Amino acid sequence: MDQPLPDPVRFAPLYAPLLAVPEAADGCFVIARAAQSLDGYIATRDGESFWVGGPEDLAHTHRLRSLCDAVVVGASTVRTDNPQLTTRLVAGPSPVRVVLDTERRLAGHYRVFTGEGPETLLLCAPDIAGDSTFGTARAVKVRRGSYGLDIEAILAALAERGLRRILIEGGGITVASFLQSGALDRLHVTIAPLLMGGGIPAFPLPPVDRLADASRFGWTIHPLGGDLLVDIPLIRRV
Ligand SMILES: NC(=O)c1ccc[n+]([C@@H]2O[C@H](COP(=O)([O-])OP(=O)(O)OC[C@H]3O[C@@H](n4cnc5c(N)ncnc54)[C@H](OP(=O)(O)O)[C@@H]3O)[C@@H](O)[C@H]2O)c1
Repeated sequence: MDQPLPDPVRFAPLYAPLLAVPEAADGCFVIARAAQSLDGYIATRDGESFWVGGPEDLAHTHRLRSLCDAVVVGASTVRTDNPQLTTRLVAGPSPVRVVLDTERRLAGHYRVFTGEGPETLLLCAPDIAGDSTFGTARAVKVRRGSYGLDIEAILAALAERGLRRILIEGGGITVASFLQSGALDRLHVTIAPLLMGGGIPAFPLPPVDRLADASRFGWTIHPLGGDLLVDIPLIRRV
């Protein structure tokens, strides 16, 4: 009988591309991830997302964190999930935590701003007043973009600090804005076998009128426990 492959061998095709030398001019390699239902939602309408994917997907997310220098989340994910963004489930270092909070509206009690843990950078717009620290986080000013903070400026601010392997962990608005800006090298989407009927969409993008205008991708598919992980290589435009 065939022995199942040990995890490091089974997962090599999935993780090896993350270790390649970044090709983009800013020296960054940027990967985004999402766990979505069959009908394309990452959370219920009230924001519940624990857990869309199964335990293997959770371990996969922690593995991605351990392979990256920085993990980026939008303000709504901090507000809803109060995440730690560490690598508790796998061996390997926790990345620097990066929160996109243009107007500095987040309160200070969230776990990324309190207690022990990896460094947190709070990214906000240059015209917003405030101290250079926020709890245990350091505030970093980044110019505004057409929506929220400018994506190229976010990556430049991280590269300047030696953070070049970047995981965009969510939520949907954040992943979609990096995707739409052409700022992703790779996209991992876990598709879980559940239907939610509505909720927070995985990719809130402007609709196309014609199928010919839709973005179409090549992908490879990896079974991940009871879920399917699709691995999509992309070409950075910025
Ligand atoms: N299933 C999953 O894989 C997964 C993963 C993560 C999160 N989630 C769920 O996702 C939900 C939150 O997702 P969401 O789509 O509502 O919001 P989000 O992506 O977490 O946060 C979006 C917010 O980030 C700030 N932001 C600043 N600059 C930005 C930029 N350049 N691009 C995008 N956002 C920028 C904006 O807030 P300001 O204008 O205030 O700056 C924006 O409204 C939660 O329910 C969470 O549980 C699910």
